Amino acid sequence: MQDHYAVIGNPIAQSKSPMIHGMYAQATGQDMDYNKIEGPLGGFKTAVDAFRAAGGCGLNITAPFKLDACAYATHKSKRVELAGAANAMKFEGDKVLAENFDGIGLVRDVTHNLHMPLKGKRVLLLGAGGAARGALLPFLEEQPAELVIANRTLQKAFDLASIGAQWGRVRSSSYADLEMHRFDLVFNATSASLCGELPPVPASVFARCNLAYELAYGKGLTPFLRLAHNSGVGQLADGVGMLAEQAAEAFAWWRGVRPETQEVIKVLTVPLV
Ligand code: ATR
Repeated sequence: MQDHYAVIGNPIAQSKSPMIHGMYAQATGQDMDYNKIEGPLGGFKTAVDAFRAAGGCGLNITAPFKLDACAYATHKSKRVELAGAANAMKFEGDKVLAENFDGIGLVRDVTHNLHMPLKGKRVLLLGAGGAARGALLPFLEEQPAELVIANRTLQKAFDLASIGAQWGRVRSSSYADLEMHRFDLVFNATSASLCGELPPVPASVFARCNLAYELAYGKGLTPFLRLAHNSGVGQLADGVGMLAEQAAEAFAWWRGVRPETQEVIKVLTVPLV
């Protein structure tokens, strides 16, 4: 009998996860199916209870349920505790294990696929919401020379940097105070691109930058990437590799075999320029 997996979110029609996990299952010969669940708003627990009762083995969780998943879990990884959000769950009897693979997927994409180590580098992270929280610990584990977190609401950047301080060199900054600073890698973890907006980052941060990375996927040349491109940044990336890598991490966690991601990245890549 096939093992059952799914992604739950609302809306969910846009999700690429069934296609990605379908390709991974085929490539690794796993007997499983993977579907989409549109969870009713306010009805996360009921929907997940029903999925488990029907024999479901694991779920991916997307907006707006990542915090609900964290609350639903009985066992949380350190990354989930820190992010306050989960993007994968595994069911083992009464146990509900929760993981957050977004940040690991991002780091794996940058270091492995894009060949840009973070170790010893000056790294700028824009945003201090859920996406930035997920990246914090995986980034610091790579031991950058310094991680600077800039956010419109400065207090949120300050709070996040304070949490991160136990793992590495991290500080907060306003956008205006970035003017005098240069970074090797710049990541946009704000949700500005989803509305076609540009976070107020000064172009000067890109003066010696090797990689500008937009965590959102499939938006083409966003205002952030356009600014980086016009400022002469050599390499631009969006979150397609992060998407493929976080899925591979979840797949390995569930099935005990890590799939190759190149084919998925090739299929989903949308040219940026
Ligand atoms: P997500 O889960 O996508 O990270 P979120 O938790 O709502 O979403 O966080 C959104 C982030 O994008 C925040 O850091 C937000 O900044 P504020 O904390 O100041 O609100 C940031 N953001 C959204 N729109 C932005 C814009 N136009 N310019 C700069 N930052 C923006």
